[in-house]
Amino acid sequence: MITINQVTKKFGKDKIAVNNTTWTVPDGAITGFIGPNGAGKSTTLKMVTGVLKPDEGSIQINDADITKNPLKAKMQFGFVSDTPDNFLHLTGMEYLNFMGDAYKVPGKVRKEFIESYGKRFGIEKSLGDKILSYSHGMRQKVMIMGALIHSPSVWILDEPMTGLDPQASHELKLMMKEHAASGKSVLFSTHVLEVAEKLCDNVVIIRKGEIKFLGSLDELKAKFPAETSLENIFLELTGDGKDN
Ligand SMILES: Nc1ncnc2c1ncn2[C@@H]1O[C@H](COP(=O)(O)OP(=O)(O)O)[C@@H](O)[C@H]1O
Ligand SMILES: [Mg+2]
Repeated sequence: MITINQVTKKFGKDKIAVNNTTWTVPDGAITGFIGPNGAGKSTTLKMVTGVLKPDEGSIQINDADITKNPLKAKMQFGFVSDTPDNFLHLTGMEYLNFMGDAYKVPGKVRKEFIESYGKRFGIEKSLGDKILSYSHGMRQKVMIMGALIHSPSVWILDEPMTGLDPQASHELKLMMKEHAASGKSVLFSTHVLEVAEKLCDNVVIIRKGEIKFLGSLDELKAKFPAETSLENIFLELTGDGKDN
């Protein structure tokens, strides 16, 4: 699980990207982190994964504080960032082995994982080529594999469906469901409501750095009985949909 406690992040003096947010991501469920562009989703996920340091507040991955105990915290999650354009000069296989080394994944486990997930994503034959030669979707697939190779208890993804073809997107949704069904936690951000509606057990809605709602989709609908669709509720909560 993830515990976010009174977390604030400012850029410069005036720009408050994330404003005193407190929420949790439970085990055994998929949590959707939803908000318009510029709402503070990526900034939050970067703080959760230790890429950015909060100005105030604290974040725990299971029982490890990401600021005070970063190594222990980092062993417990896998992160798929919103830009898959990393390690371009490694082959897919070199990248996966690099991640396997970093997370001390035994050779046999690693080999089985790469075979099975490579097949599921249909990229097993391309793993010998450089990531530079991959399409956006293939890069995304290899980054997803790298995030899961150590079977982390917490899986965090920033706008993961972007650039995936329908088949890969379907496969990714299945993987997220499997992860949650095995008692682990999944947190993913999206500005696409339809994805959240089909996939999430819980949603956290953010606008201008502030949490507007957290709870299940049923609770959300119950809170706005007059609204006919999730889209209307979302617009009600997030205004014109533009935060920048
Ligand atoms: N490095 C940065 N410096 C200054 N402002 C930033 C920086 N990163 C993000 N922001 C601003 O913080 C706000 C939240 O951005 P972000 O977390 O990327 O939003 P989201 O992922 O929800 O689209 C936006 O207004 C964005 O312009
Ligand atoms: Mg973002």
